[in-house]
Amino acid sequence: AVKRPNDRLGRSLRDLRISVTDRCNFRCRYCMPIEEFGPDHEFVPRDELLSFEEIVRLVTLSVPLGVGKIRLTGGEPLMRRGIEDLVAMLAAVDGVEDLAMTTNGVLLAHRAEELALAGLSRVTVSLDALDPERFARMNGVGAKVERVLAGVESARAFGLPVKVNAVVQRGVNEEEILPLARWAKEQQVDLRYIEYMDVGETNGWEMSQVVGGREILQKLAEEFSLEPVDPAYRGEVAKRWRHADGSSEIGVITSVTQPFCGDCHRARISAEGKMFTCLFAGEGHDLRGLLRGEADDDLIAGAIAGIWGHRDDRYSELRGKVVQPKAEMSYLGG
Ligand code: GTP
Ligand code: 5AD
Ligand code: SF4
Ligand code: SF4
Repeated sequence: AVKRPNDRLGRSLRDLRISVTDRCNFRCRYCMPIEEFGPDHEFVPRDELLSFEEIVRLVTLSVPLGVGKIRLTGGEPLMRRGIEDLVAMLAAVDGVEDLAMTTNGVLLAHRAEELALAGLSRVTVSLDALDPERFARMNGVGAKVERVLAGVESARAFGLPVKVNAVVQRGVNEEEILPLARWAKEQQVDLRYIEYMDVGETNGWEMSQVVGGREILQKLAEEFSLEPVDPAYRGEVAKRWRHADGSSEIGVITSVTQPFCGDCHRARISAEGKMFTCLFAGEGHDLRGLLRGEADDDLIAGAIAGIWGHRDDRYSELRGKVVQPKAEMSYLGG
C-alpha cells in the first residue's frame, strides 16, 4: 500500500476538488469573460472528460492517501449530465466524509431533491449580488437572481446545508456587501466574501479591484455585532464570525491580502483528469492516461502520492514575486 504523502512544505493531502466540466451557463467577467469564452471557445471534448467511473476510482485511491473531503466543481457542475449519479457513486465510497458541490445555483431549484437523495453533504452557492440588474450584468448572460435564490431555498428545503460565496470586486459590487449580509442573516445562511483573485489569464485582474477582507469586515461591523469563531478544521480557508444573536455566520476568504498557503491541503483535478497542486498552477499532471492505460491501483496511488510529494506551491504567499502562466478557473475548478 502507498503511504500518506506530505508535500515538500510538510502539508498533507486532505481535500480533492474535482472539476466535472469546464462548461458553464454563466459568463462572469472575473472568470469567463465573453470575449475569451465566446461561441468559438473550445471546451474539453466529451470523450476527454473523466468518466464517472474514472472519478470514482481516483477518489477511492485517494482516500487511503488522506483524502476525506470531496468537492465537485466546474465550470458549472450541474451542466454535467447525470451528475446526481456521480454524487451517489461517490457517496458510497468508504472514507468520503464530506461530499460538497460548488454551483452558481441557477439550475439548483429542480435538482436539489435528487442531489440530496443521492447523498450530497452540502452545497456552496455563488451569489455576488442581490440587485437584479447588477446580478444579470455580473453573470454575463442576464440570468435572474430569483432563480438562484429559489435554488438556495430548495436546497435547504431538502435538507442540504448551504453556504453562499460572494466575490467582491471594487467598482462592481461593493455596494452589495451589506445587502448580502442582511439577506443571509435573515435567511440564516452562512455567507463568505471572497477577495477577487488573479486566477487565470483572461480576467484582467488588478490589485486596485480587490476589496480586502479587513475593509469588508469594517463595513459589516458598522451594522452587525459579530463574534469570532474558531476554525472548523485545520487549514479552513474562510475566517469566520458569528452574529451575536446566533442567527448565522459570516466569513472572509482573504487569498490576496492574507494568504493561507501554509495550511493548504487541497489538490484539484481538472475536467480532463489532470492533477493540479495549486489553484494558480500553470500545468497539471495527467492522471487520465494512467486511468485509461494498464496501470494498476497501486501504481496510480503511487503517482498521486508522488505528485503531491513534489509539491512546493504557495502562490498566494509569493504573489508578485513569481510570474507564470496560469490555468483558467473554469477549467481547473475553483
Ligand atoms: P468549506 O469546506 O465549506 O470550508 O469550503 P472551502 O472554503 O474550502 O471551499 P469553497 O469552494 O467554498 O471555497 C471558496 C473559495 O475560496 C473558492 O472558490 C476559491 O475562490 C477560494 N479558495 C478555496 N481554496 C483555495 C485555495 O486553495 N487557494 C486559494 N487561493 N483560494 C482558494
Ligand atoms: N476571484 C475570486 N473568486 C473567484 N471565483 C471565480 N473566479 C474568481 C476570482 N477571479 C469564485 C466563484 C465561485 C468560486 C468557485 O470561485 O464566484 O464562488
Ligand atoms: Fe461564474 Fe462560476 Fe461559471 Fe466561472 S464557473 S463563469 S465563476 S458561475
Ligand atoms: Fe493552496 Fe495554491 Fe491557494 Fe496557496 S495559492 S492556498 S498553495 S491552492
